[in-house]
Amino acid sequence: MLKRFLSSTASRRVANVLDEKIYQVTTYARPDDLCITRGQNAKLYDDLNGKEYIDFTAGIAVTALGHSNPKVAEILYKQANKLVHSSNLYYNKECLDLSANLIKKTKQLGGQFDASKVFLCNSGTEANEAALKFAKKHGITINPKKQGIIAFQNSFHGRTMGALSVTSNPKYRTPFGDLIPNVSFLNVNDELTKLKDYISSNKNELAGLIVEPIQGEGGIFPIPSEKLTGLTQICKDNDVIVIYDEIQCGLGRTGKFWAHAHLPKEAHPDIFTSAKALGNGFPIAATVVNEKVNNALKVGDHGTTYGGNPLGSAVGNYVLDVIGDEKFLKQVEAKGKILEAGLRELQKKFPEQIKDIRGQGLIIGAEFAEPPTEVIKKARDLGLLVITAGKSTARFVPALTIEDETIHEGLKIFEKAVESVYK
Ligand SMILES: Cc1ncc(COP(=O)(O)O)c(C=O)c1O
Repeated sequence: MLKRFLSSTASRRVANVLDEKIYQVTTYARPDDLCITRGQNAKLYDDLNGKEYIDFTAGIAVTALGHSNPKVAEILYKQANKLVHSSNLYYNKECLDLSANLIKKTKQLGGQFDASKVFLCNSGTEANEAALKFAKKHGITINPKKQGIIAFQNSFHGRTMGALSVTSNPKYRTPFGDLIPNVSFLNVNDELTKLKDYISSNKNELAGLIVEPIQGEGGIFPIPSEKLTGLTQICKDNDVIVIYDEIQCGLGRTGKFWAHAHLPKEAHPDIFTSAKALGNGFPIAATVVNEKVNNALKVGDHGTTYGGNPLGSAVGNYVLDVIGDEKFLKQVEAKGKILEAGLRELQKKFPEQIKDIRGQGLIIGAEFAEPPTEVIKKARDLGLLVITAGKSTARFVPALTIEDETIHEGLKIFEKAVESVYK
């Protein structure tokens, strides 16, 4: 009797929650049978439907230190009791610490060798807006026509108008009419000489180049080191600012502090952007620049009310301390190997269906011969959350703190899902 009463209460609660979905703008396609109520490291729970999931998405590469990380919770609680917000009218200690920490750790751990100054904001797209504005300002300072931006096919840099203008996917762009002008999309797979020719012959109209060292949303495409080195060199020779978007692939995800820390110094950017993992789920982002870029800026050129607020900055500082540790980064590399090896084994069993496995560390894509929609749906039914990337790639970006056995468990579920769709 009591059991029947409890289960009818639970189903009433589910129904009530789903009733409320009518108040959501029509921008997302979300499953109707899932409503997340809590998380624990690499697991998510839907208590309304009584389900547990292994989470290979980490909120799209955000909760790098796991869901409900107790130390993050403690920092948020303590900081919220001290100071949440004071605006950029005044310095606050946490913002200063985070900026200093970002520059110091970046240099110590093989990232941008001339990183010098930080602009803090609240989301990935905003960090890229700042980067684009800074590059344009630098170009215009040299010559008023030096405003153009190079981006690449398959890129994703965000949804605000500037970031969208350098995002290649027509599905995201075309509904919104005119975007910012003077953006050219090149194909990163073209011969380096062709790309270099384009840059040198248009140098007087080019302010910057923006690229993800590993294209994330576009389908997990790591850009070869020689390509990035060659592009950076030609840009530097022609006063074109190089921006690396490390929003998805940065902060330990590849097994190094930044994805560009795998590259030689000659391939280091003038600006790089970070968000997602920086707040482990609390919205905070950063645009890191060298002196050359900073010299083009003056007071009033850019700003944001919330950027560098003490709450987000306190969390960001903790995240940097944990991820910016060689031992931690080695563990990410090892976990990445387990995941990659498991996916390669699966590819051997399904060579017709799984065409490629790519990525580095804990950002891995399994490209299918067709969109893996059914596989992902089946995996979800079986208790595993995975997302897509590009047209036909399943993307694996779990928490960097995922337990080895959870990776194995998740791989087993994924295999079952592939089997049930293709056998
Ligand atoms: C590489 C990259 N840049 C920018 C963004 C935009 O970040 P946000 O959604 O925080 O605006 C994303 C988000 O997925 C991303 O993956």
